[in-house]
Amino acid sequence: MLIRMIAAFALLSTAVTGSNAAQSDVEQRHGSAVATSVTSPGGVLKVDLTLNGEGRIGYGVSRAGKPVIGESHFGFLFTDQPQMLRNFEIVGRRTRDHDQIWTTPWGEDRSIRDRYRELVVDFQEKSSLKRRMSIEIRAYDDGVGIRYRLPARANGAAWNIAEELTQFRIAQNGKAWWAPAFESNREEYLYNETPVSGIATAQTPLTMVLADGTHVSIHEAALVDYSGMNVARVEGNLLKAVLTPSSTGPKVTRTGEFTTPWRMITVAPDAPSLYAARNMILNLNEPNKLGDVSWVKPRKYVGIWWGMHLDSQTWNSGPKHGATTDNAIKLIDFAAKHGIPGMLVEGWNVGWDGDWFANGWDYSFTKPYPDFDMPRIAAYAKKKGVHLIGHHETGANIAHYEDQLEAGLDYYRSHGIDAVKTGYVSDAGGVQARGPDGQIRFEWHEGQVMARHHLKVVTEAAERQIAVNPHEPIKDSGLRRTYPNWVSREGQRGMEYNAWGEPKNPPRYDTELFFTRLMAGPMDYTPGIVSLKGRGGTDILSTLARQLALYVVVYSPIAMAPDLQENYEAEPIAFQFIKQVPVDWDSTRVLSGAIGDEVVVARKDRNSADWYVGGVTDEQARDTVVRLDFLPDGKRYTATIYRDGPTAEMGAKGKDMVVETRQVRRGDTINVRMATGGGFAIRLAAR
Ligand code: NOJ
Ligand code: CA
Repeated sequence: MLIRMIAAFALLSTAVTGSNAAQSDVEQRHGSAVATSVTSPGGVLKVDLTLNGEGRIGYGVSRAGKPVIGESHFGFLFTDQPQMLRNFEIVGRRTRDHDQIWTTPWGEDRSIRDRYRELVVDFQEKSSLKRRMSIEIRAYDDGVGIRYRLPARANGAAWNIAEELTQFRIAQNGKAWWAPAFESNREEYLYNETPVSGIATAQTPLTMVLADGTHVSIHEAALVDYSGMNVARVEGNLLKAVLTPSSTGPKVTRTGEFTTPWRMITVAPDAPSLYAARNMILNLNEPNKLGDVSWVKPRKYVGIWWGMHLDSQTWNSGPKHGATTDNAIKLIDFAAKHGIPGMLVEGWNVGWDGDWFANGWDYSFTKPYPDFDMPRIAAYAKKKGVHLIGHHETGANIAHYEDQLEAGLDYYRSHGIDAVKTGYVSDAGGVQARGPDGQIRFEWHEGQVMARHHLKVVTEAAERQIAVNPHEPIKDSGLRRTYPNWVSREGQRGMEYNAWGEPKNPPRYDTELFFTRLMAGPMDYTPGIVSLKGRGGTDILSTLARQLALYVVVYSPIAMAPDLQENYEAEPIAFQFIKQVPVDWDSTRVLSGAIGDEVVVARKDRNSADWYVGGVTDEQARDTVVRLDFLPDGKRYTATIYRDGPTAEMGAKGKDMVVETRQVRRGDTINVRMATGGGFAIRLAAR
């Protein structure tokens, strides 16, 4: 793969335009010289590359002439050679323009424009070591991708990276929404809302609103064979990269020439346009490497699942075992009756008895419990036109999982299973992996070992035409473009927290999630708990209409209808919307939004002329006007509006939902009141 990447870059290099570094265009700034700059194609963003008196390489970003990122430095620490920090000079410079429209096999948008100006600058140390590195910058009108390229070392020696010292100096004060990094519960934390100067150590995506209203998100793209990046505040508004550690010393070990993941800074004037800029993460990834992926099918699914989270069923064997043949047959009938194409089964395989959390040694991925008749269930599902979705909980024991990976995937394929949900439940740092010496070592969920592991699972699964949906995953860095069978993942607090979480997800969380975690890509959130009840009959902080809205707001090409069958049967009107709402979109528009307050999204179905709108609010009731400006001219639509009723409030009063039908067309407006913790969903069916 690496060889192919290098070849691809060599090809690009021959096509470059521009000049070699001219020392003459050097201008003085803040004691540092702006060595060279690149401006985005529409002239909106400008990135300066700087070199200070010590020969330290830096960069800064401005939007419409106003600074967003002030001078910030690059550099590496290594475990076995001196740092690369200063004493650099420019030895080469190339620019290139790129403008291309490509088509997604599935997604939030059918076609995506990839338009940037690239600047590549080669540096060399003036000291005796004379080491080289390149900084590659892609300037978009709504963001910047920056990565390092390091050449092969002499004699095949490895690059052993102790730390990457990339900085992000936020140029203004502002507010930040961030989830803590390196905490026991991995990625599953509520967002802190603090001043930028109150950020501690944060996961990415990390989103900020600066004093002048500029919206900024920091994340990474193409996290391949490298360790995941978090950011920590150094002082004032200066943030720096903190790579995820590994058990072997260096945080990253690479041999040969390589590039780091893209450090991605998305910059937009307001919240809706920040979300609209999210496709940069896909543009910064390589095109599809799997060829024909028509076998990857976006779909909704039900499952033997919520009962376990309610504790009315168990994954392990015993009187409450959920994954029994009887339960599976009933659920297949339910799915078939309601036209829901997928069905997940958790707890079907041996290994759940005893201590599976952070253990995983007992799992078999080919052996069902005796009360789960896989061949019979698979045959019945096939007859009923329902696709079984497999489950591989690993307890984060990837050593044991990788030993059985091929057999486990073959077993699924032989039973017609074309999608698998994987799981890595353990505390952070509890991944058990086989080290280079064959010994079991403990790793973080976002370290280089896991970056490799996830791609191994995804590519093995692709060989068998199986789609993958990891929970407790590595962060989403847009690799679904390259590997379109990587359909979704968890990676934040999903609906399960509303079963047993303390606290449950507060309403504001969804409005923060949208502009942070969901900037990275699809989330298997599992909306649609129409009972509005968690474990022990506790109230979910939502209204019924909001549960429907979440199908439009939280994008995932595989979306679950997770509630119990009897709960859907008791809410046929709400269930009707869940059955109808698509999971694959032609285009997406954020109609309004403010981080932590509210968000309203419109999406057009990929397979019809229908549009859907979803809106959610925080703890505050809000009045919203939905302007149907996004509809095409001259077409008429039947709008079915699912909104909070006059007495609705999140929780026990959440079921008050009004359903109205109206004839509408472009230019019309729909007024909706969202209750506290509420929301609304609209289906616009083309006539
Ligand atoms: C956590 C996952 O998020 C959840 O969906 C799953 O049911 C359990 N782990 C068991 O694998
Ligand atoms: Ca989870």
